[in-house]
Amino acid sequence: MLKNNGKKAALSVASTACLCLLLLLLAVQHHRAQVDEVTDGENTGTRSLLQDSAPEEENAQLGDSQVKKGFSAYFTKLTRARREVEKPAGSSASAADAPPAEDISADDIFIAVKTTKKFHQSRLNLLLDTWISRNMQQTYIFTDGDDEELKETIGSHAINTNCSAAHSRQALSCKMAVEYDNFIESGKKWFCHVDDDNYVNVQTLVKYLSQYPHTQDMYIGKPSLDRPIEATERLGDNKMKPVNFWFATGGAGFCVSRGLALKMSPWASGGHFMNTAEKIRLPDDCTIGYIIESVLGVPLTRSNLFHSHLENLQQVSRSEIHKQITLSYGMFENKSNIISLKGAFSVEEDPSRFKSVHCLLYPDTPWCPPQVAF
Ligand SMILES: *[C@@H]1O[C@H](CO)[C@@H](O)[C@H](O)[C@H]1NC(C)=O
Ligand SMILES: *[C@@H]1O[C@H](CO)[C@@H](O)[C@H](O)[C@H]1NC(C)=O
Repeated sequence: MLKNNGKKAALSVASTACLCLLLLLLAVQHHRAQVDEVTDGENTGTRSLLQDSAPEEENAQLGDSQVKKGFSAYFTKLTRARREVEKPAGSSASAADAPPAEDISADDIFIAVKTTKKFHQSRLNLLLDTWISRNMQQTYIFTDGDDEELKETIGSHAINTNCSAAHSRQALSCKMAVEYDNFIESGKKWFCHVDDDNYVNVQTLVKYLSQYPHTQDMYIGKPSLDRPIEATERLGDNKMKPVNFWFATGGAGFCVSRGLALKMSPWASGGHFMNTAEKIRLPDDCTIGYIIESVLGVPLTRSNLFHSHLENLQQVSRSEIHKQITLSYGMFENKSNIISLKGAFSVEEDPSRFKSVHCLLYPDTPWCPPQVAF
C-alpha cells in the first residue's frame, strides 16, 4: 500500500516536474520572442518593416510557417529578412549592371514631385538646391498654390494643381490625377512619382529603368506593408467586393512604364482617377496599385533601391548610397530617421543628409566643400 502510494506520488511528482519544465520552456520561448520583438522594434522602427525587403514569397509565407514550424523558423525568416535589408542593393543592383534593354536618358523620364505650398521653403528648396538642380528638364513639381519664386526657378514645370492643400485622401488623389495627365501629355517613356522628402539619384534611376523596354508593362517600387492590402471595392447598388493587392509606397517613389500607363487610362485619366480612388476609399498610392495589380493584373516589381521614411534609413550602408535610387528622411518617435553618412556637412548643418549625399555624388557642385577623404 505504502509502496504503491510512493509510486503514485513519484509518478505525480515526475509528471508535475515535466509539466513545469514544459511551462518553463514555453515561458522562456515566449520571453525570447518578446525580447526579440522589442529589439527588432528598436533596430528597425517597427518589426513589420523588417519584412519589407523580404522577397514576396517569404512575406506571403511568413504567417503559415510561423504556425507550422514555431518560433525558431520564424526567427530564421526574420534574420534572413534583416539580412536582405542590410544589403539594400541586393540582386536588383546587379541586374542594373546587365546590358540595357533600351538606351534611355534622363530626358525620357518624367519625374513628378508632389508637394504642398506649406513645404515650398522647408522641403522643396532643399531638393531644388540638390538633385533637382541637375535635372530641371525632367522634373515637374505638383503643388497646390502659386509661388512666384518657384516659377522663376523652374518655370512651367511648377504646376499648380488647384487641388486642396489638405492632406486628405481626396486632395492627394487630386494631385496624382494631375500628375498622370501631365505625364501622358509629355510623351515621355517613364513616369516616376516621388514626394518632397525624397532625394532622387537620377543617374541610377536611368540605369535601372533601361533594363526594361518602356513599352512593356512595368510597375516598380517598394511596398511598405508585409502583405497585400485588403480593401473593399464599391460596385454600386450597395454591393461590395473584397480585393487584395500590393502597392508601392508613394513615399519611397515608384515608376510606371508608358506602355502600362496608357492601359491605366480608363481608370486614371481625366476625372477617372478620383472616381477610382473613391471606389476603394484609399490614398493615391494604393489607388495606383489597385488599378495596376487588381484591375489590370500586372504585378508590382519590387526594388530595394527605393527608400521611404517608413523604414529604418540607418540600414542603408554608406558604401551603397550611390547605388540607391531614392532616399528619404523623417522623424520616428522623436528620433530623426536619416541615413548614416559622415559627409561634407554635419547633421546640424544638414539634418536630412541630402546635401552631403549630393556632394558625395557630385563633388564638383560649387557649394560643396573641397573633397576630403570622409
Ligand atoms: C489651375 O487654375 C488656373 C487658373 O484658373 C489655371 O490656369 C490652371 O490651368 C489650373 N491648373 C490645372 C492643373 O488645371
Ligand atoms: C516627443 O517630444 C514631444 C516634445 O518634446 C513630447 O511632448 C512627446 O511626448 C514626445 N513623444 C514621444 C513618443 O517620445
